[in-house]
Amino acid sequence: MIKQVWICMIGAALVFSMSCAQQSEDASKKEGTVTMTQQPFGDVEGKPVELYTFTNANGMEVGIMTYGGIIVSIKTPDKNGQTADVALGFNSLEGYLKGHPYFGALVGRYGNRIAKGKFTLDGQEYTLAINNDPNALHGGLKGFDKKVWDAQEIEQDGQPALELTCSSPDGEEGYPGNLTCKVIYSLSNDNELKIEYFAETDKATPLNLTNHVYFNLAGEGSGDILDHVVMLKAGKFTPVDETLIPTGELRPVEGTPMDFTQPTRIGDRIDADDEQIKFGGGYDHNWVLDNQSGQLALGGLVTEPTSGRILEFYTTQPGVQFYCGNFLDGTLVGKAGKAYEKRNGFCLETQHYPDSPNHPNFPSSILKPGETYHHVTVYKFSTEK
Ligand code: BGC
Repeated sequence: MIKQVWICMIGAALVFSMSCAQQSEDASKKEGTVTMTQQPFGDVEGKPVELYTFTNANGMEVGIMTYGGIIVSIKTPDKNGQTADVALGFNSLEGYLKGHPYFGALVGRYGNRIAKGKFTLDGQEYTLAINNDPNALHGGLKGFDKKVWDAQEIEQDGQPALELTCSSPDGEEGYPGNLTCKVIYSLSNDNELKIEYFAETDKATPLNLTNHVYFNLAGEGSGDILDHVVMLKAGKFTPVDETLIPTGELRPVEGTPMDFTQPTRIGDRIDADDEQIKFGGGYDHNWVLDNQSGQLALGGLVTEPTSGRILEFYTTQPGVQFYCGNFLDGTLVGKAGKAYEKRNGFCLETQHYPDSPNHPNFPSSILKPGETYHHVTVYKFSTEK
C-alpha cells in the first residue's frame, strides 16, 4: 500500500514537472521578442517606399510596405517546421506598380462594390468612378491601395507595431469629407497578425476599410486552393445580381453551395450548378457572420491538408468577402516565379456588406463627424499536430 502511494506521488511529481517545463517553453516562446526591421523598397512618384518586416519568437515573418499598406509576405511553418510564404504578391515594388488585383492591399474608402458608383447621403447624391463596369470597386481609380502611407514604429504591449496613416481630402474619388485613417499592424508570438483600423471624418461618408491579402496555405505559387478546407461561422450570405451587387436579401446558406458551417473542401461545390456560383464565377460573395456584436470573435477557419497549416480569422466586422481568385488568369507571375492561375489564392476580406450605402437594411457603413471608426481583424496561423 505504502509502495503504491509512493509510486503515485512520484508519477504525479513527474507529470507536474513535465507540464511546468512545457508551460515554461510555451511561455518563453510567447514572451520572446518580436522584432521589426525597416528597409527601402523603392519609390513612387519620388516618394520613398519602405518595407517593414516583423519576425516573432517562432521565426514567423511578415513583410508590409508603405505603398498601399500592402502585406508583401507571410512566412510561416508547416506541420514539419518547413517555412513557406503563404501570401500572393511580388518580390519588388515594380510588380505592384504594373497593376494587380489588390494583392495584400489596404482597401478604401469602400471595400467591394457600390452599385453604378452612386449613393445618396443626407439628401445629396454622390458619384464615384465606374472602375468595375457598371459599378465602383474598392475605393476607385486611386484607392488607398495606391497611396504611400506614412509609417511610424510604435509599441503595443511591449512589442513593436507598425502604424500607418493616410489622409483623403473631401471629394477624393467622389467621397465626401476630409478623412484621416490609421492602420496598426502587429505580429504576436502566438502567430497572430493583427490589423487595427481607425478613421475620422469632418462630413458623413461611407467607409469600409479592409485588407485584400490572398492566401495559399500550401505556399504561394503552389497551384490552386481547391483542396483547402473552409469553415465559416455564418448562417447567411448576401446573394448578388449578375454584376455582383447584393440584392438586399440575407439568405440562409443551408442547402446551398454557400454552406460552410461545417468544414468543407473549397473544390467540392465551387463549380456547382447554382445561379450564385455562376454570377461569382465561383465563390465571390459576402457572408453574414453570426457574430454581429462588434466584439472580436472567430469568423472562420481554413486548413490545408498537405502542409497542415491552419488559418483562423477573428474580426469585429459583420461580414467577410470570401473570394477564391476566380479572376486570376495566369498573366501575373508571383514571388516564386510561378504564374498565378485561376483560383491560386483565396481572400477573407472582413468588411461591411458590399453596396451598404444603398441598402438601409444592412448594418450602416456611414462614419459621421465626431465618431471614431474602429475595427480589428486577426489572422492567426498554426498547424495540425
Ligand atoms: C471582389 C472580386 C474582385 C477582387 C479583386 C474582391 O473583393 O469581390 O470580385 O475581382 O476583389 O478586385
